[in-house]
Amino acid sequence: MKVLVVGGGAREHAIVWKLNQSPSVDELLVAPGNAGTVQIASNFPVAAEDLDGLLRLAQEGSVDLTVVGPEGPLAAGIADRFQDAGLAVFGPTQAAARIESSKTFAKELMLDIGVPTAKARTFSSFLQASEYVRNSPLPIVVKANGLTGGKGVVVTESRKEAVQALREQLDAKKFGPAGATVLVEEYLAGREISVFAFVDCRHVSSLVAACDYKRVGDGDVGPNTGGMGSFTPPSFWNDELDRQVRAEIMEPVAHALADRGTPYSGVLYAGIMITEDGPKVYEFNCRLGDPEAQVVIPRLKSDLAEVMMSAAQGRLAEIDVDWGSEAGVGVVVASGGYPGTYATGLSIKGLDSLDGATVFHAGTKIERPGRVVTDGGRVLTVVSMADSVEGARRKVYANLPRISFKDSFYRGDIAAVA
Ligand code: AMP
Ligand code: GLY
Repeated sequence: MKVLVVGGGAREHAIVWKLNQSPSVDELLVAPGNAGTVQIASNFPVAAEDLDGLLRLAQEGSVDLTVVGPEGPLAAGIADRFQDAGLAVFGPTQAAARIESSKTFAKELMLDIGVPTAKARTFSSFLQASEYVRNSPLPIVVKANGLTGGKGVVVTESRKEAVQALREQLDAKKFGPAGATVLVEEYLAGREISVFAFVDCRHVSSLVAACDYKRVGDGDVGPNTGGMGSFTPPSFWNDELDRQVRAEIMEPVAHALADRGTPYSGVLYAGIMITEDGPKVYEFNCRLGDPEAQVVIPRLKSDLAEVMMSAAQGRLAEIDVDWGSEAGVGVVVASGGYPGTYATGLSIKGLDSLDGATVFHAGTKIERPGRVVTDGGRVLTVVSMADSVEGARRKVYANLPRISFKDSFYRGDIAAVA
C-alpha cells in the first residue's frame, strides 16, 4: 500500500511512525509533515487545508489510502472530495464531522438520543446570552459553535468574564462565523478523559482512554495550549466505565449518525467528564487527539494500516483492534513564550541521545542536513512506554533533559497523578 498522511504535528508523526511498521505499507507520503516524518516518509509541501493540492498529490502519486490527522480538512470536506474521486480515505465526511465542527449539532444529537452531556443553551444574540448568563449558576462555560483550534471555550467563575467572552464572540466576531453562535453550558465537575474508538458506520472498535493537559504550567495554571502532555491508561478507567461509555455514548452516536444518513467513519473522540452522576460528554472530536495520539498509538497491537484501510472500505467489523495493556506517558517540549509569541529557527540538540523514549516531532524543520531547528510553539512530544504509568513517567523524565534548544520548556507534572 502507498499511504498519504495529511498533517504536520506530533500526532501525524506518531501515525506515520506506526504505519511505517506495517508490513502492508510500502511507501509513505506526508503533507506537509515535519523534520521527524521526513526520516521515514516523503514530505510534500502541501498544506493540510489545500484540498485541491492534496487530491492532486494523491491522484498523481497513485496513493491507495489517505489518512487525515487534523479536523480542519475533515470539516472542509476532504473525505467527500476523495470519495467522489474514487479514493480511499480514513476520516469522516463533512456531514459526519459536524460532531466536532458544530457544537450545536453535537449537542442537539446528544439530547435527541439521550447521551449524557452538559446542559446547554444556544444563542446568537449577545443581549439574550448575557441576560441568561447573569441568571445562571457559576462556574459557567461559554463555547463558540464552530472550530476555533481550542481557543473558543471559556470556563469561568466570573459572570463578568463570561459576558466578556460573549461580547468577543457574538459582537466583536473574534472567531468570525465560528463564533456567530455560542453555547452557554453547565459546568461539569470531575475528572476529564479522552476516549477514542475506530468507527465504521454502526461498528465501534474497542475503546482506549487517555488524559491530556491543556494548561501551560505545572499544577494546571496559566493559559490554555494545544496540549502539554498526556498519559494512558488513566487509573480510574476500568471495564465498567468502558462498557458504560460504549453503550451510552459511542454506540448511540454511531447508530444515530448512520440512521440519519450521515454514517461516521474514522476515529471518534469523546471528551468526557467523569462526574458524580457518571460519565458526561463535554465535546466530540472527529479525529485522534493531540497529544493523546502520541501515547495511544504506540499501544496498538493491531496493524494500523489494516485498521484504517478497513474503516475506509466499510469492513472494520472484520478487524480486531487490540490496544494491548502497555502504559504510555508523553511530554511536550515547547518554545519559550508559547502559547504566546516565541522564536523559531533554534537548533535542537540531543535528538539522537534518547534511551527508552521516542520523540515525535511537531514544529520542526530541517534547515540543512544535520541541523534540525524549531518551527512552532509545540516542538516535540517525547514518549515512553512501560508496564505502568509510573514506570513510563520515570523513563520519559529521565530522557527529557537530554533534548534542548534555547528557552525550551516542558511541564514537570505530566502523569504525576494518574
Ligand atoms: P475544548 O476546547 O472543547 O476541548 O474544551 C477545552 C476544555 O474546556 C476542556 O478540555 C475541558 O477541560 C473544559 N470544558 C469544556 N466544557 C466543559 C464543561 N461543560 N464543564 C467543565 N469543563 C469544560
Ligand atoms: N487533546 C485535545 C485535542 O486534540 O483536541
